[in-house]
Amino acid sequence: MNKYILPVSVMGTVIGSAVLIKDYFSGGVCPSKAKITGKTVIITGANTGIGKETARDLARRGGRIILGCRDMEKCEEAAREIRGDTLNRNVHARHVDLASLKSIREFVQKINQEEERVDILINNAGVMRCPSWKTEDGFEMQFGVNHLGHFLLTNLLLEKLVKSAPSRIINLSSLAHVAGEMDFDDLNWEQKKYDTKRAYCQSKLANVLFTKELARQLQGTGVTVNAVHPGVVATDLGRHTGMHQSPFSSTVLGPLFYLLVKTPTQGAQPSVFLAVAEELAGVTGKYFDVLKEKEPAPQAQDAEAALKLWQASARLVGLPQAESGKGSPSLQVSQEDRRPLPAS
Ligand SMILES: NC(=O)c1ccc[n+]([C@@H]2O[C@H](COP(=O)([O-])OP(=O)(O)OC[C@H]3O[C@@H](n4cnc5c(N)ncnc54)[C@H](OP(=O)(O)O)[C@@H]3O)[C@@H](O)[C@H]2O)c1
Repeated sequence: MNKYILPVSVMGTVIGSAVLIKDYFSGGVCPSKAKITGKTVIITGANTGIGKETARDLARRGGRIILGCRDMEKCEEAAREIRGDTLNRNVHARHVDLASLKSIREFVQKINQEEERVDILINNAGVMRCPSWKTEDGFEMQFGVNHLGHFLLTNLLLEKLVKSAPSRIINLSSLAHVAGEMDFDDLNWEQKKYDTKRAYCQSKLANVLFTKELARQLQGTGVTVNAVHPGVVATDLGRHTGMHQSPFSSTVLGPLFYLLVKTPTQGAQPSVFLAVAEELAGVTGKYFDVLKEKEPAPQAQDAEAALKLWQASARLVGLPQAESGKGSPSLQVSQEDRRPLPAS
């Protein structure tokens, strides 16, 4: 037997399996060819990864795209690149740091001054498994950015979204929500030992619970809200994990990982699908695993927990009428009437 047959066939099998696994994880492409000319889209965390590719795809469809990012240099660069690539001049960079309630309020104030409408809000920015960091307002970083920041942002933009209806909100969650537990006695990890994996899972469970309660409150407004797991995507999300830190992981496991998982362009397809697909008009309060609607984990279907999270979040970010649970505060009061922020 030729001495090369065995190694060549092993290599062929490995490469073939990798391609098949990658294909399995890829999920698919948004089937809709819908144009969004005349619509305004806000995407948080759009300077890189899934957010940037979502912005690029939606820019090709003709929308006015606002990239909301914390680093203006990266944000301007991404906006410039997307304008050049898509020839859509309506791609703009705006500052928002989701780890700062003040920054979120300033961002919304600018949007309210500059934009006539907001048709699509994609709550995409995220941080995963960072050290025990706090936001400017003293919240645990993953809960603060992934959930609380987007909770406040969405609430402050609701008036615009309702006026622009039919409009859509998309919350980037994760399959990681299945391992999530809401600790309502200690949402910000002040009493127990910090566990960064559990904190990420809690924040991604919070994304699904927020989606559920918001959908309930928005019934009849023409604004829909859905949560999505984009698949496993090769982005900067793992920057705080061992994969990026150990030399073995980054040189041996890293390349294998990148061979198996989706590209950011593929990873953006679920967000694009939820933003534009004609068949999703009126679909709200759902969880999508890539392009397919699925039941989320049982703890993500708990309506009581969803309301409890809403009330706790409203208290933490300083939204009024936190206790009522009867409709979004943003639909009831103007922004000037907001209660001062609590000391953190
Ligand atoms: N990648 C995956 O496999 C995967 C799987 C499931 C769910 N997701 C979810 O998909 C979303 C996008 O993640 P990704 O994979 O594209 O990750 P990524 O490449 O790390 O992008 C995350 C984005 O969020 C931004 N961000 C982080 N903290 C922020 C803050 N305080 N204020 C404003 N922006 C902030 C980042 O900005 P900087 O560049 O300035 O840090 C970056 O633009 C996340 O919500 C993530 O949980 C991803």
